[in-house]
Amino acid sequence: MHLLLIGPPGSGKGTQAHKLSTLFDLEHISTGGLLRHNPNLTDEQKEIINSGNLIPDEMMLEIVKAKIHSTHKKGWILDGFPRTKNQATLLSSILDEKKITIIYLDVDKNELLERITGRISCQNCGTVYHKQTKPPIKNGVCDECGGHLEHRADDNQKTLTHRLETYYIHTEPVINYYKEKNLLHSVPSSNSHSIEEVFERIKKILKR
Ligand code: AP5
Ligand code: MG
Repeated sequence: MHLLLIGPPGSGKGTQAHKLSTLFDLEHISTGGLLRHNPNLTDEQKEIINSGNLIPDEMMLEIVKAKIHSTHKKGWILDGFPRTKNQATLLSSILDEKKITIIYLDVDKNELLERITGRISCQNCGTVYHKQTKPPIKNGVCDECGGHLEHRADDNQKTLTHRLETYYIHTEPVINYYKEKNLLHSVPSSNSHSIEEVFERIKKILKR
């Protein structure tokens, strides 16, 4: 199974990718997570991320390619890639005829600020929480692995505004491109649809 989760910041890509990769034993390839955990990131690259801009396409492709080729799992989920038209083209060039399912998490943009500013995530296993709507049992500690929960440096109002602008300019055209090719499965993901409900919808799409 090869899956691609696409949507704006805070739409639930990481939340759903974590659940799906656990259920189907897939490699969860979060490009944002791989960047944040890369000890060799330069100050310039950290600044790109913390200001809400995009890392160059070629570097992202190398990161994704390395992960896809090194995994021993039977499939993968891409969370956060592709997010430019060029990345989408580069991805098709390395897919070797693999069938991919593309899920678009369709969320009310007015809900994103609250989701992003309340989010905390596990530094060890990547499980995502929210201080108000999905708190861990013990403050600052991951329910699943006991890892440390942290707030991301790019999760503030100023950076989110720019991350959203970047999303509208660079990533919406990717969504339209897949939509025009009839490859996009749109899943309602606003707060009125619980995390479990979104998960069930995606599972239904995968069963087709
Ligand atoms: P990345 O880490 O990919 O960030 P993002 O795309 O902005 O997405 P987020 O991780 O913020 O949100 P999410 O959709 O995963 O939501 P989550 O599940 O956590 O990228 C970070 C940066 O890295 C980029 O800005 C860029 O600089 C760089 N980068 C990464 N990939 C790149 C690429 N390909 N090219 C170039 N640069 C790249 O959920 C958020 C919150 O909402 C949580 O608290 C959760 O509990 C809550 N929630 C989720 N679902 C629901 C629901 N249904 N109802 C209520 N609450 C919900
Ligand atoms: Mg994420």
